[in-house]
Amino acid sequence: MKVAVLGAAGGIGQALALLLKTQLPAGSKLSLYDIAPVTPGVAVDLSHIPTDVEVKGFAGEDPTPALDGADVVLISAGVARKPGMDRSDLFNINAGIVRNLVEKCAAACPKALIGIITNPVNTTVAIAAEVLKAAGVYDKNRLFGVTTLDVIRSETFIAEAKGLNVDDVKINVIGGHSGVTILPLLSQVQGASFSDEEIAALTTRIQNAGTEVVEAKAGGGSATLSMGQAACRFGMSLVRGLQGEENVVECAYVDGGSEHADFFAQPVLLGKNGVESVLAYGEVSEFEANARDAMLDTLNADIKLGVEFVK
Ligand SMILES: NC(=O)c1ccc[n+]([C@@H]2O[C@H](COP(=O)([O-])OP(=O)(O)OC[C@H]3O[C@@H](n4cnc5c(N)ncnc54)[C@H](O)[C@@H]3O)[C@@H](O)[C@H]2O)c1
Repeated sequence: MKVAVLGAAGGIGQALALLLKTQLPAGSKLSLYDIAPVTPGVAVDLSHIPTDVEVKGFAGEDPTPALDGADVVLISAGVARKPGMDRSDLFNINAGIVRNLVEKCAAACPKALIGIITNPVNTTVAIAAEVLKAAGVYDKNRLFGVTTLDVIRSETFIAEAKGLNVDDVKINVIGGHSGVTILPLLSQVQGASFSDEEIAALTTRIQNAGTEVVEAKAGGGSATLSMGQAACRFGMSLVRGLQGEENVVECAYVDGGSEHADFFAQPVLLGKNGVESVLAYGEVSEFEANARDAMLDTLNADIKLGVEFVK
């Protein structure tokens, strides 16, 4: 397996690269790219960790050498939020970065599975899809918005609130990846029951958890370590699917034929071609159905912005 991380010198990129160096299967290749000149040094640093994963680092304007032969590409290149910003404020800078990097992926590794971490994910994934379509290599089963951070936050907060072992907590988080478009399906959690007040409070906390980190870091960036872990979990699931493991399921923001929007986060079964099948997200409560319906104008506007940006 060859996994490429674009934005690898950043807060997320370095955490993700470290985790992948220690978790990828023996014999894998880890390819790091960033415009920052430190990137080859990050690779040298990681290469001293004794695992059977070869690490190479590339800096400069062209990511192509990092992308050649990649099976999985994880993109966290771009700018992160500062206090007072929401994810859509990042659009002006990050839209162009994602467009340019995905153009390079289309040329260098058109069959790779691409996971987009760069915010605003609701929009950057639509940008990536348009770029791949224009290059004639779009396969909806191979493009993902990484929403796993919303899942791991939900697992953590539910376990804390209900005194559960976090390993036992499983939850679907559907919709998108910002504010009201993040919808944890708390009514489906096994082994826990919530009052209406608890559901409202926990849903709001999960939706605003990114802002909790942005404010706590007080201008020093947004979630990087938890996001590194989330991206590693998702990237490893892509790899496990590619290697033929069965029953690998993650929630992700995909072009999955949803009745709600052109891109929608929902559980997907992963396999040798990326998405093997899009799974139903199951029964929802009245609160969740209302929240889902209420998010759709925002989500569809975010997607339209991405499509129009490329056109
Ligand atoms: N999907 C999620 O759940 C989630 C969570 C947290 C943050 N994010 C997003 O991830 C992105 C990265 O966050 P971070 O904290 O790592 O930021 P960071 O500023 O620490 O790192 C970003 C890196 O991108 C690099 N970069 C910029 N332009 C580039 C280009 N054209 N090609 C290659 N590399 C380039 C920078 O040099 C930097 O090293 C942000 O957009 C942030 O909003 C997403």
